[in-house]
Amino acid sequence: MKEAIEQIFKELNELKANTAKEVEEARIRFLGKKGEITALMEQFRSVAPELKREYGQKLNELKKAANARIEELKFSVEENAQAEAPKEDLSMPGDALPLGSRHPVSIVRQQIVDIFRKFGYDVAEGPEIEDDYHVFEALNFPPNHPAREMQDTFFVSTGHLNPLLLRTHTSSVQVRTMESQPLPIRVVCPGRVFRNEAISARAHCIFHQVEGLYIDKDVTFADLKQAILLFAREMFGPDTEIRMRPSYFPFTEPSAEVDVSCNICHGKGCNICKGTGWLEIMGCGMVDPNVLKASGIDPEQYSGFAFGMGVERIAMLKWQVNDLRHYFENDMRFLSEFATATEV
Ligand code: PHE
Repeated sequence: MKEAIEQIFKELNELKANTAKEVEEARIRFLGKKGEITALMEQFRSVAPELKREYGQKLNELKKAANARIEELKFSVEENAQAEAPKEDLSMPGDALPLGSRHPVSIVRQQIVDIFRKFGYDVAEGPEIEDDYHVFEALNFPPNHPAREMQDTFFVSTGHLNPLLLRTHTSSVQVRTMESQPLPIRVVCPGRVFRNEAISARAHCIFHQVEGLYIDKDVTFADLKQAILLFAREMFGPDTEIRMRPSYFPFTEPSAEVDVSCNICHGKGCNICKGTGWLEIMGCGMVDPNVLKASGIDPEQYSGFAFGMGVERIAMLKWQVNDLRHYFENDMRFLSEFATATEV
C-alpha cells in the first residue's frame, strides 16, 4: 500500500491536461467512484491496526493533493482557453446609444414656468402627500364640501381631524407659500396632483398642474386678466385672444374659467374646439379674503389673484394628442415623437 500511495503522488506530479475533458478524466481516474485513490480508501479498512494511523494520514494527504492538483489543472485549462479566444476587433464602429428626450409633459411644464419667470415670478414647490388643512381647510372648503369625499381624494390616513392625503391640486402650495414667505408674493408652483378618478382618454388619477399666486397691495382683477393674456400670447401665439367665464372655486372670489381662442381654426370652429372657436385652459380668480386671513395676511391691506392650469391639458392643445393615457404609458414610439420638440 505504501508503494501504491507513493506511486500515485508521483503520477499526480506528472499529470498533464490540455482540455477540460482531460481534467475531468483525470479526476475520475483518481477520485471517481472507481478511482485509484477511492480504491486505496477501501483497502485501508483491512490494514493492520498498528499501521492505521500512519497510512490514514498518508491517504488523507494524497486525497488533498489530488484535489488541489485537479483544481490547478482546471484553472490553467480555463486560462489557456481565454487566451486563445478570438480577440475583439478594435477597429469595429461602436453601437450608437439611443438618445433619450424630455417627456412632453416636462417640456410644456418648463415652457409655462419659463414664461412666468420672465414676468418676475419665483418657483415654489410643496409636498405631494399633504394634509387636509393645506389642501382644503385653509382654502376655504366648507367642512362637507364634496371634493373632500372619498371619490375624489386618495387618503393616506384617516380617522383624525387633519388626515393625510395625496394633494388633489397645487393650490396647497399657495397656502404653504403664504405661510412662509414675506409679502409681496409672486410665485408659480408646478407639481403632480392626484384624484381618485377612473382612467380614461379624458381623465387620469395622476396629472400635473401649474399654480400661480400674486399677492401685493392693490392687486386687481385687471392685473389678473393682463397676466393671463400675456401668458396666453407667449404660449399660443401673439394673436391669441382670451375670454373669461364666471365660475366658482371656494378659494377665489370672484372666480373665472379662462378660454383661449382656438389656434387651430382661428375661431372658425373645428373638432378640437368642438365648433366653438374657444379652448378652456385654466381656472382663476381673486384670492378669497378668508384664504388670506387663514394664512395670517390682512385682506384690508393686501389682495391677490391665483390661477391654476393642467399641464396635460395645455400639451393636448399644443399637440392635439387627445388621449391623456399616452402621457403616462411611456411608450417609446410616442415619446420619441417629442425628441426634437424644444419649441412647440
Ligand atoms: N385648484 C383649481 C383646480 O384644481 C384651479 C384653480 C387654481 C382655480 C387657482 C382658481 C385659482 O381646479
